[in-house]
Amino acid sequence: MKIGIEYLSFFVPQFYIDLGTIAEQQDVAAEKYYNGIGQEKMSMPPHSEDVVTLGANAAHSIIEKNGVDDIDTVIFCTETGIDQSKSAGIYVARLLGLKDNVRNVEMKQACYSATAALQLACGYVARKPNKKVLIIASDISRYDLGSNAESSQGCGAVAMLISSDAKILEVDPVSGLHSEDVMDFWRPNHRKTAIVDGKFSAQKYLQSMAHAWNDYQENGGRNFEEFAQFCYHLPFSKMGEKAHRHLSKINSSPMAEKSYLPGMELNRVIGNSYSASLYISLISALTRAEGDLSDKPIALFSYGSGCVGELLSGVVQPN
Ligand code: CAA
Repeated sequence: MKIGIEYLSFFVPQFYIDLGTIAEQQDVAAEKYYNGIGQEKMSMPPHSEDVVTLGANAAHSIIEKNGVDDIDTVIFCTETGIDQSKSAGIYVARLLGLKDNVRNVEMKQACYSATAALQLACGYVARKPNKKVLIIASDISRYDLGSNAESSQGCGAVAMLISSDAKILEVDPVSGLHSEDVMDFWRPNHRKTAIVDGKFSAQKYLQSMAHAWNDYQENGGRNFEEFAQFCYHLPFSKMGEKAHRHLSKINSSPMAEKSYLPGMELNRVIGNSYSASLYISLISALTRAEGDLSDKPIALFSYGSGCVGELLSGVVQPN
């Protein structure tokens, strides 16, 4: 039995804004965004899209391959919820034609929630190996117009099917955690845009990663040198570079570009998709890394402001 990700898929709308356009509006050099934060484009949802349509589109190809019979749980992860009560996953279940004997719930903890869903789903399928959990992470990141954070917007959705027949990534049972009550980024009910202390949030991200890495090691995790690829939560792609530099330094290791750059390629043209971002990084690494990743371990760092950080790992499956 191999527990982990059986299918993995993502969706972004066909519209985007080039960061050069934002730079022009803000009267700053485009290089600040192209190089300084490492973003080329941000995905933009048209009026006809929301987290439900993004999520349903992301999951559609998985349902086409797998069917619906063995899926008995849907976990919808978002910080762009459309209802304080009803899970967005209920709409998605109808759009996808899922069965009616399915449990369906929405989870929230900033950009981290899909990782919590993944770990809980792995535990669930260990108990019920003939059942599968559909996780949908779908978000639209919005900041105040003209604010510093405006350049780090984006949107996207990821769908993952978690089962005891992991065809893509077998998730290691060990992981490292860090949690702290901190006000680096949040969106109270009365606001449509997030409030953020940008520099502080980046600092908390790196600190949380260091704590989570130490916890991962104390729990018997793999050595830094074992990993073929590193995937990070990417609010903007340069954050991945900063994270990898920090983790390399902690481990007194050189910073090999080929082990973290492939994971940043897709996010560079999508922007921040919050809960989906780390798993878009994973898709980016799996599809863009050089050489065969079969049977090789990948490290993933998940960060949700507020904050929760988790360092997890898994082994890429053949083919
Ligand atoms: N050419 C090249 N580089 C340039 C440049 C130019 N002309 N002008 C500036 N730069 C560089 C700067 O030196 C800086 O690089 P370093 O960080 O390596 O020093 C980079 O461009 C950005 O410049 P600023 O720091 O001046 O940028 P800013 O104040 O306009 O905002 C930001 C950047 C703080 C990330 C902002 O986009 C923001 O607040 N974003 C939202 C918060 C966020 O994403 N936080 C990340 C961690 S929290 C998290 O991960 C959760 C989440 O998803 C939100």
